[in-house]
Amino acid sequence: MLYRTHNCGELNIKYIGKKVILSGWVNNIRRIRLKTFIDLRDYFGITQLIFDNNKFNIFLKKITKESVINIKGIVFKRIKNNLSLKTGEIEIIVNECFLINKSYSLPLDLNKLEKEKEKIKMKYRYLLIRKDKLKNNLIIRNETTLKTRFFFYKKGFLEVETPLLIKSTPEGARDFLIPSRIYSGKYYSLPQSPQFFKQLLIIGGIDKYFQIAKCFRDEDLRSNRQPEFSQIDLEMAFINENDIINIINSYIIYIFKKIIKINLPKLFPIISYKESIDKYGTEKPDISFNLKISYLYKKLNKNLLIDNIEFNFFFSIPIFNNENIINEIIYLLNKLKIKNFIWIKDKKSSFKNIFKYLNNKEINILLNNKLNNLLLIISGDNNIKFKKKLGLFRIKLSKIIKIKKKFAPVWINNFPLFKKEKEIYKSFHHPFTSPKDEDIILLNNNNFKNFEKLKSKAYDLIINGNEIGSGSIRINKKELQKKIFKIIGLSKKKINNKFQFLIEALSYGAPPHGGIAIGLDRLLSLFNNDNNNNIENENIKNFIAFPKNNSMKDLMIGAPC
Ligand code: AMO
Repeated sequence: MLYRTHNCGELNIKYIGKKVILSGWVNNIRRIRLKTFIDLRDYFGITQLIFDNNKFNIFLKKITKESVINIKGIVFKRIKNNLSLKTGEIEIIVNECFLINKSYSLPLDLNKLEKEKEKIKMKYRYLLIRKDKLKNNLIIRNETTLKTRFFFYKKGFLEVETPLLIKSTPEGARDFLIPSRIYSGKYYSLPQSPQFFKQLLIIGGIDKYFQIAKCFRDEDLRSNRQPEFSQIDLEMAFINENDIINIINSYIIYIFKKIIKINLPKLFPIISYKESIDKYGTEKPDISFNLKISYLYKKLNKNLLIDNIEFNFFFSIPIFNNENIINEIIYLLNKLKIKNFIWIKDKKSSFKNIFKYLNNKEINILLNNKLNNLLLIISGDNNIKFKKKLGLFRIKLSKIIKIKKKFAPVWINNFPLFKKEKEIYKSFHHPFTSPKDEDIILLNNNNFKNFEKLKSKAYDLIINGNEIGSGSIRINKKELQKKIFKIIGLSKKKINNKFQFLIEALSYGAPPHGGIAIGLDRLLSLFNNDNNNNIENENIKNFIAFPKNNSMKDLMIGAPC
């Protein structure tokens, strides 16, 4: 049987009068008097078929939606074009037809997916792939990985596959374990990242390593987390922080241009971790809109401040004279349990006496002369916890006032080297991250114990509030590596047990090196841009053919089992 001479997405008026053979799925069936119209669908598109009801009576009675059929027919020009289809200028008058495989009625309605339960959609993932949305996302994924490989190959990177059956990688999540059949009681771990292999490759003399690497992390899932995901992973020898930042800047500019035809600015701003917390209340700032947390140093009436409160923060908010928005903002503040605030708009304020403490001139300065704006003064503690609350308020506020966004990448650097949790120090990035040079000197002093003060050579790439990539310059000296392990509480025995291979490798001529990993799935989730300035990244599931559901199950094949 000849299945096809053409596909369902390629016929147009150039083919009029031609005999063609097509195969595909029955997308739609419409009976109109003596004729039946069927939209035949395959990977490439949809073509309209016309059947004579008398001639094909038996066939037409047998077929159902989503059945697989094969037809022979002749291409005709349509009387009325369908501009939404690539093949919308033609239709096929069918001469012969064959039912290849009948479909039972589907367990879900592909045309009303928004009404279907998540459970059903995950169970019948392969049916969802028949729809353009998911299929196109897989095509975008393929384009992105191809172009990514091309980019890094051109820049002299060597793609190396690293193993999956390994030993625990300390990236902060739990490991997935694989029991060894031969060595009873022993386990392999699946990699949370190829971190130490890429460092060992550089020690092995590879100058620039690259890999699109599968990673596995047993952690609670969110819309931007899957237990199994992919990283665009790289490492380079003899480089510093700026070299990594520069190469990733050019890559991100290149891939946005190639995949969604968006020109990003040539330079991405770099701001320190401290500045990010101070101005945006988060280490993952969305800088695509110009609404920052500002600090009001003038002391206001004591009555405005509750006990122990040190600070007044303020926002100048564009509300375009929409008074309802003030109510929405108040509702949001209450919801976030931000209690001490005053708003000022024109001559009105939630606290009349405010005009005793702030004169018009001062108000205008705070408003940055945007006289239509609402001035919101919030009192709160000058600490990370409260600033994070303000950061959350800022993001939710941007939705209320419908700020138009564009893509705005930003680098965050100067991260702390450690964080203290319940009196225990943990690495802020991972324990292979180098401290800043000036802090290495502090660490060499055995009396120094104020480890929280130390800064690292780590950097994160954030795009519109999403952590897209993260990396660092690594420790390449054995003694320093051992010291860091000690500070995070690893005993000599544990260090030997877990990382002896790395400590040893560092003693055989390890060059200065560093790298980064970009979350491929997270990057893709930004490519949902509809060119209408409507930048809402999707759940990364939508760019993965067969993801796990939010309870970490694959409902389609029934795993784990
Ligand atoms: P990190 O752990 O920050 O760094 O991961 C790098 C990037 O991987 C993505 N990512 C994820 N994507 C989907 N699901 C997950 N569960 C998930 N976890 C992380 C994020 C993140 O920025 N070895 C270091 C990198 C390095 O130092 O070179 C590492 O893995 O986009």
